[in-house]
Amino acid sequence: MTLNNAHTHIPLELAGRINELAAQVSRPANLAQADKAVLIARIKTLLKQHNAQIVAHYYVDAQLQALAEETGGVVADSLEMANFGAQSNADILVVCGVRFMGETAKMLSPEKTILMPDLNATCSLDVGCPAHEFAAFCAQHPQHTVVVYANTSVEVKALADWVVTSGNALQIVRHLKAQGEKIIWAPDQHLGRWIEKETGIEMLRWMGHCIVHDEFKAFELEQLKREHPDAKVLVHPESSESVVALADVVGSTKVLINAVQTLPDETFIVATDHGIFYKMRQLAPHKKLIVAPTDSKTTQCISCAHCPWMAMNSLQNLADVLEKQDQKIEIDESIRVQALRSVQRMLDFSRAQGLVKAK
Ligand code: 13P
Ligand code: SF4
Repeated sequence: MTLNNAHTHIPLELAGRINELAAQVSRPANLAQADKAVLIARIKTLLKQHNAQIVAHYYVDAQLQALAEETGGVVADSLEMANFGAQSNADILVVCGVRFMGETAKMLSPEKTILMPDLNATCSLDVGCPAHEFAAFCAQHPQHTVVVYANTSVEVKALADWVVTSGNALQIVRHLKAQGEKIIWAPDQHLGRWIEKETGIEMLRWMGHCIVHDEFKAFELEQLKREHPDAKVLVHPESSESVVALADVVGSTKVLINAVQTLPDETFIVATDHGIFYKMRQLAPHKKLIVAPTDSKTTQCISCAHCPWMAMNSLQNLADVLEKQDQKIEIDESIRVQALRSVQRMLDFSRAQGLVKAK
């Protein structure tokens, strides 16, 4: 891959590979109500039996989110998932989300067994930032502080000085700016650009993208806004610059949920994965939620506001993994220790700033 000195684009073949991987994902089959009830009962028994907890992301199936809450686990953004896992007394954590979330849990709790319903649940940002290529980029800029988004592999985190999530990226970059640091940012180009705009810093940005948020369309969103003039527009910062420009609120999944709950408005157009509607509806049942448009006249959506890899988590494979304990996150100890520095730094900073519970 050719690396330039400023912003690093991912090569076409890697972009093609990401689309190929997304297209290969088979969505779980719809189950009959009676079969679901049997699986839920089995999962509850197995969780108790193994002193296990579910750590779920807001984008997974609503039934998994409900089950996590009912059984003493958590439904959260990636920052809170990491913090909850680190503070949990369970022997086993079943991470219902994507692979980097399971890896972060393992980095922070090597003594626990970390299971995932499907270890193949990846993320386009992770795939779009291969560690050896990112290492070469960092080596060209040895004076820079390396800040990577949590949506990366453990090998990329091992190259970083700081890990951030969308729940703390602004605060951490502001902190680094105040110290006069120069920053390499990876891998999400849109989140990086939004942070640059908000903080006034210029970073060397890796040009990865999220295949879900990249599909929201500004032109169609403007039209939808005209149809719903009273609606507030909520946008996750992994969306493109033109979509972010139309937002009333930009922020992490937690910030967007909080906006629906606390703003007086009745209608919200939401530019993020629609799995988040479970929590928004739970906290604000009378509000109207509309998915931001992902199709245009010329192109059709592929992920259509739902992450194909988050969708791999199902009641069936959750029950299976608790039974067989076969989909286990394993990390080479020397890489784990190296990557832990940047993850622990993020967690310590976030706890000190009151962004997550310090326990
Ligand atoms: P949050 O950190 O806001 O939960 O986002 C994670 C993610 O993968 C968004 O696409
Ligand atoms: Fe990755 Fe996007 Fe899926 Fe989040 S929604 S896990 S960033 S591909």
